[in-house]
Amino acid sequence: MNHHDRSINAGLIVFSLGILAVCQGSGLAQTTQTPQVNSCVVCHSDMQEDMKGSIHSQQGIFCDRCHGGDPAQSTKELAKAPGTGYIGAPSKKQIAEMCGNCHANVEIMNFYGIRTDQLAQYKTSMHGKKLFQGDTNVAVCSDCHGEHDILPVGDPGSSVYPLNLSKTCNRCHGNEKLMSQYKLPSDIFKIYQTSVHGKALLEKKDTGAASCISCHGYHGAVPPGARDVGTTCGKCHMNEKKHFLESVHVTASEQGKFSECISCHGNHEVKPASKVLYDQTCIRCHSAEGPEAKRGGEILKMLTEAEEKLRSTTALVKQASIEGIFVEPEMASLESVKTNVIAMAPLQHTLSPERVSELHKKVISNTADIDRSIHQKRQSLWLRKLALIPMWALIIVMISALWAKYRQLHARPGNKKDGKEKRS
Ligand code: HEC
Ligand code: HEC
Ligand code: HEC
Ligand code: HEC
Ligand code: HEC
Ligand code: HEC
Ligand code: HEC
Ligand code: HEC
Ligand code: HEC
Repeated sequence: MNHHDRSINAGLIVFSLGILAVCQGSGLAQTTQTPQVNSCVVCHSDMQEDMKGSIHSQQGIFCDRCHGGDPAQSTKELAKAPGTGYIGAPSKKQIAEMCGNCHANVEIMNFYGIRTDQLAQYKTSMHGKKLFQGDTNVAVCSDCHGEHDILPVGDPGSSVYPLNLSKTCNRCHGNEKLMSQYKLPSDIFKIYQTSVHGKALLEKKDTGAASCISCHGYHGAVPPGARDVGTTCGKCHMNEKKHFLESVHVTASEQGKFSECISCHGNHEVKPASKVLYDQTCIRCHSAEGPEAKRGGEILKMLTEAEEKLRSTTALVKQASIEGIFVEPEMASLESVKTNVIAMAPLQHTLSPERVSELHKKVISNTADIDRSIHQKRQSLWLRKLALIPMWALIIVMISALWAKYRQLHARPGNKKDGKEKRS
């Protein structure tokens, strides 16, 4: 806004004050006295524009509720006079307190039924702790939510909506200059984008996939310590978590020598799971010739064999079906084999060859049964085809005989003619 605009605006106030009535209807407005006339928006129409459609303006919350001041006064001096509580543009610390004035106030928030622990949580986070120690580079409420254009968190346009969230964090965490001051990496978002979670969320729009806050929390955003990581991943991957807890690495984990899931999968870079991990991860910490790597190799062999069996038997059944063999029962058995193969992936987190071998054995014997059954059906189909040979031979003989008879009748000279002539 330039000075020319401001003087025009000031002139307009006189006319506007009488007309301007702020719409209010919320519980908040009923419990507090917001003036019927708002001079702030007369001079700051651009801010009013920003606020349009925001959750706060829908609730009749206006400038003075955050900035203080007296909107009933038409001049700038009176509107912002000492004693009006005017704070102007708030500092970051003031912002946390400003938002907390309402959001940590149970009496106000009860009416809306939303939680009131945001400020308290925030103070326990790395961001909050640092802010109250005087570091203004960290995120405060308005860095994540915006200030004038705040939308409900479930609104697809909100800066903290799952699909937009990682970009909101990345505004700072992707800033190399800023992050280098804290010796933190600035490529987290780039790496995350290519991970199985980032792709599922950002490309497939699968809001069930992990975003920054699924692993870090939001108001209490702190990096999970080595021991919490499994809990974090385990919120969504319950079976893997359960079986990991039965594995040889639990004690090492408790002693801080092993980081549960991320020792093998990584954190921001989690890739689609693959058996390749066995070749790559065990030898990062164990010798390639040692008993640990050997055990890994044993499990790997079972996983590979089971998958290979499933593949070859599936191909066999498909081919039989094309050949016209009735394969419904084999298809059904194949489904249960598939279930067992799928169950091996979480189960191998026990790193127990015995446990994995239970499923492995089932897969091997069930696929063998299916293979055998298909071979038998094929054989009996052939037998039936063979049994048809004499039938066909008989038919051919009979057709030949009939044909011969027909030719014979035709070949007798004057046969038909004679008959006709006789009758007429
Ligand atoms: C008569 C016009 C006028 C009125 C009324 C007015 N303002 Fe302002 N306001 C201004 C101008 C001009 C500025 C530019 C900065 C300055 O000169 O102080 C400003 C600046 C601000 C700032 C930024 C301060 C900073 O430090 O950058 C805030 C916040 C603000 N006003 C809020 C309000 C609120 C809240 C009200 C209502 C209680 C209000 N204003 C009423 C004209 C007005
Ligand atoms: C929900 C609280 C809230 C409400 C309501 C609100 N503001 Fe603000 N406003 C903020 C915060 C927070 C900042 C500081 C943003 C920052 O520095 O990052 C700010 C900054 C400002 C600034 C100075 C910074 C700038 O962007 O130029 C002005 C001027 C301002 N607000 C005016 C207004 C006016 C006028 C209204 C009413 C139409 C209003 N605000 C309503 C929270 C609010
Ligand atoms: C680091 C980013 C970040 C900061 C800082 C932050 N928030 Fe949030 N906030 C979020 C996210 C993300 C959600 C939405 C979580 C979800 O999807 O449910 C949220 C949700 C909310 C909600 C909706 C209710 C709830 O608790 O889920 C409110 C209200 C809220 N925040 C207020 C605040 C206030 C007040 C502050 C400052 C004291 C603050 N936030 C600081 C990221 C942040
Ligand atoms: C005057 C009291 C008040 C102040 C100050 C205030 N809020 Fe709110 N806020 C509310 C009310 C009331 C709601 C509406 C709750 C509802 O309708 O669910 C709300 C809603 C929200 C929501 C949406 C919650 C949801 O469930 O989706 C967010 C996010 C939010 N405020 C953040 C902030 C931030 C950030 C600040 C500080 C810049 C702030 N608020 C300052 C009263 C306030
Ligand atoms: C306004 C900038 C800003 C935004 C936005 C922001 N952060 Fe931060 N964050 C920082 C800064 C600066 C630090 C460094 C604090 C320190 O280490 O002293 C930090 C620290 C962290 C840490 C602790 C890292 C460590 O080990 O020291 C985590 C985790 C984190 N942020 C996660 C998030 C998440 C998740 C979001 C989005 C929901 C987010 N941040 C949004 C600025 C921001
Ligand atoms: C799948 C879970 C997961 C997701 C998603 C995730 N993180 Fe992390 N993040 C972690 C783990 C685990 C650590 C490491 C903690 C440790 O080593 O104790 C970490 C570490 C960090 C750190 C500290 C940096 C470091 O290397 O020490 C920051 C900052 C951070 N993450 C920010 C983010 C941001 C921003 C996003 C979203 C773009 C994000 N994280 C997404 C799990 C996740
Ligand atoms: C010792 C290394 C290791 C550890 C520790 C580990 N995993 Fe795995 N994980 C693997 C391997 C190897 C596979 C691939 C198995 C396959 O393809 O058959 C896998 C597969 C997965 C899969 C895909 C499984 C499926 O059903 O397709 C998920 C999800 C997973 N792990 C999550 C986790 C979680 C969560 C944790 C921590 C509780 C964890 N992992 C700990 C090595 C590990
Ligand atoms: C918010 C829930 C959530 C959290 C937390 C989470 N994940 Fe995932 N994860 C998913 C979803 C959903 C998918 C499937 C993505 C897809 O569609 O490909 C997935 C996929 C995976 C895969 C690939 C599985 C496969 O079949 O190839 C692995 C490995 C994995 N996550 C490991 C982890 C690890 C390690 C952590 C903790 C650092 C973690 N996840 C945290 C939801 C989560
Ligand atoms: C991040 C490092 C790390 C990775 C990766 C890792 N391990 Fe371990 N493993 C350990 C630690 C630490 C111990 C505990 C050793 C100790 O306390 O003496 C351990 C113990 C074991 C043990 C028990 C050894 C004993 O003497 O009781 C087996 C078996 C084992 N790991 C197998 C594996 C297999 C298989 C893989 C790959 C799928 C693997 N580990 C990947 C670090 C790792």
